[in-house]
Amino acid sequence: MRAAVVGATGYVGRELLTLLARHPYARVVGLISSDLDGKGPFPIEQAHPALRGRFTVPCQPLNLEGLAGNKVLEAVAGAGVDLVFLATPHETSRDVVPILLDSGLRVIDLSGAFRLKDPAAYPRWYGFEHHASKALAQAVYGVPELAREAIAQAQLVSNPGCYATSVILALAPLLRSGWVDVSAGIISDSKSGASGAGRTPSGKLHFPEVNENCRAYGIFTHHHVPEMLQALEVGEKDFIFTPHLLPVTRGILSTVYVRLNQPRSLGQVVSLFRQFYEPSPLVRVYEGGSLPEIQAVANTQFADLGFALDEATRRLIVASALDNLGKGAAGQAVQNMNLMFGLPEESGLV
Ligand SMILES: NC(=O)c1ccc[n+]([C@@H]2O[C@H](COP(=O)([O-])OP(=O)(O)OC[C@H]3O[C@@H](n4cnc5c(N)ncnc54)[C@H](OP(=O)(O)O)[C@@H]3O)[C@@H](O)[C@H]2O)c1
Repeated sequence: MRAAVVGATGYVGRELLTLLARHPYARVVGLISSDLDGKGPFPIEQAHPALRGRFTVPCQPLNLEGLAGNKVLEAVAGAGVDLVFLATPHETSRDVVPILLDSGLRVIDLSGAFRLKDPAAYPRWYGFEHHASKALAQAVYGVPELAREAIAQAQLVSNPGCYATSVILALAPLLRSGWVDVSAGIISDSKSGASGAGRTPSGKLHFPEVNENCRAYGIFTHHHVPEMLQALEVGEKDFIFTPHLLPVTRGILSTVYVRLNQPRSLGQVVSLFRQFYEPSPLVRVYEGGSLPEIQAVANTQFADLGFALDEATRRLIVASALDNLGKGAAGQAVQNMNLMFGLPEESGLV
């Protein structure tokens, strides 16, 4: 497969390139970044020293938002590609994806621009209008464990958010089996490393603000909320999601609280999850009692799930850990690519 990576200089772009460089069936033939500081084509190791010597094609700086349709196509698909990864800001993806789809290309978009089915939800959650309703309607929300067949057929896969992936994997088996007393409320207390915000510097991400600190942010407003509600078919009034920023570079831990609607044992909960994720090589379900942590998943493509249950009160906690740049972004995108091209979903990932 010949792939182009747009947003190659970003954190997610770096992870994609690292995974694609060692993938047995993929070749990267196009690298694109923005032209914001007026640079010319440059070797990708200037942005990512760890990629020195891995790619012969230079990175092309192009502001895709400012280009006409045919120029975008020329830039992205000039080398003749089978698949385009967009690891770009939401607005860039929103404008570029319809052009790529119209030309017949297959696309995996890692931004949030095609995750929500309802265009009217975008002004509230993303702060912009969305007019690409045709592309939105055809986008497949790409949690591979929940949508393998649709992903395999898709022209456009919208890669889920990192927090959202951790929460959806923790709740889908319970909700789909009807085990949860939803009226008792569902809470996800989630924590992420600082690479989750991308590489653009800001005051809140300055080292002294993050180091030896932990703070909540985006309460009731985080843009991953609507995709979780949509994927889990849960109402907003029944779900609280509180993200926190951790002083680590990568990794997410979501601690998810639910009340079961019937008495169950911890063994039954583990069996439910084991069965649900039996065909899923990248989800690891822990034995009763042990809980995942960030160090177990950082720099891997796995999502790990563990459980604690108070049988007397039916209070269940699901702990869900993954790497925000791995299973939360680039790893999941490559997993989706594998499904789209008929490969085992874990190719190049384990
Ligand atoms: N970080 C995560 O953990 C994570 C997880 C899941 C999903 N995501 C999503 O993935 C996307 C990328 O995230 P990131 O963390 O990698 O961000 P990032 O580090 O800020 O990188 C953004 C990339 O997009 C490029 N870009 C920006 N505007 C462009 C334009 N107009 N035309 C062409 N290229 C443009 C940038 O190029 P320059 O370097 O030249 O500016 C850079 O390569 C975002 O939509 C984010 O929400 C991120």
